[in-house]
Amino acid sequence: MALKYIDQVDLKGKNVVARFDFNVPLDKKDNKTITDSTRIDEALGTIQAMLDAGVNRIVMMSHLGRPDGKTNPKYSLEPVATALAQKLGQEVVLTESCLDAGIKTLLNLKQHKLILLQNLRFHAEEEANDANFAKILASYGDFYVNDAFGTAHRKHASTYGIVAHHKHTCAGGLLLKREVEALSKVVDSPAKPFVAIVGGAKVADKIKILERLLPDVSSLLIGGAMAYPFLKAQGHSVGKSLCSEDDVALAKKLLQSNSKSKIILPRDHVVSSSLEGNPEPVGSVEIPADKMALDIGESTLAHYSSILKGAKTVLWNGPMGLFENKSFAKGTFGIAEVLAKLDAFTLVGGGDSVSAVNKAGLGDKMSHVSTGGGASLEFIENGSLPGIQALKFGI
Ligand code: 3PG
Ligand code: MG
Repeated sequence: MALKYIDQVDLKGKNVVARFDFNVPLDKKDNKTITDSTRIDEALGTIQAMLDAGVNRIVMMSHLGRPDGKTNPKYSLEPVATALAQKLGQEVVLTESCLDAGIKTLLNLKQHKLILLQNLRFHAEEEANDANFAKILASYGDFYVNDAFGTAHRKHASTYGIVAHHKHTCAGGLLLKREVEALSKVVDSPAKPFVAIVGGAKVADKIKILERLLPDVSSLLIGGAMAYPFLKAQGHSVGKSLCSEDDVALAKKLLQSNSKSKIILPRDHVVSSSLEGNPEPVGSVEIPADKMALDIGESTLAHYSSILKGAKTVLWNGPMGLFENKSFAKGTFGIAEVLAKLDAFTLVGGGDSVSAVNKAGLGDKMSHVSTGGGASLEFIENGSLPGIQALKFGI
């Protein structure tokens, strides 16, 4: 069965219940100001397309943060409701919860076109994929749309269990479609040479991706904290750099694999005594005992750039250093600049590399910037996600 998207179904007159990923970052001081509205902006096309298709009503659902099954005003979707209303130029009614009697009344009133349910994760039943909760959510519409790519790796009531009640009345949204098409390009048939750049902190979190990618890529460029367990496994000194023994063991395994020659590691570094310390270049692979490496060095950036020059497909996941501190941002921003100029399909996934690309102002120079962190990683590992499989095959 093929996965259907909303541009392939007739939604005229339908009452749609739709899952989005409006899990946007809020300013830590006021818990109100949205600091990056990408996930809302990327969903607007789906909402507008459904309105243009003549839907009767859309009940929108999302989680925000991890309130662990309890109501917590800190994680209210109120700022999202306000942003949606502003961006769409239409009233958006926010409910008090996902279950209260007020919702039935609201739906019976039939005056409101856009309704946003309060945070799904205020109910423990959401993450437990509770069957009854899923059934209630399903009853808020006669058609179910899932556009929450960023949450499609979770088997939750609103992303998974709900499909049991909408087996033949469900479709993916347009953001989900863009994500699946872009990621499938890289997973199924990448134009060669295909180069992957992987950074970030933990080898354990990304080991499956590295194993999955190694046979397909011509080079795997490793940077950021991901690099130090590999360097240590090769016998180099890593000083005080982030490096767990478990990760060294995993790195050793990859360095013994058939594809070991494709793994490219930093040759030099920018180090410091602490995360807030002064940046000091070290022109060798060896990191001094009393220092930690916090960025790739100039020679490494030049080396990685030269490998990227001829690439036709590039997947980038994870920063090259502690780019949040501008003393250690050169490697990460340097890679972003190289990708921006390439004549290649460039896909950036994973929360940190996405925010680095956006911070560098280069997001629109990439072929695709994923709205999914964990979701994009799991898609690359497994070629699909539970929420997508459910739309395709039912549950
Ligand atoms: C995310 O930001 O990773 C998604 O919104 C999913 O949230 P979660 O990781 O808390 O399940
Ligand atoms: Mg996550």
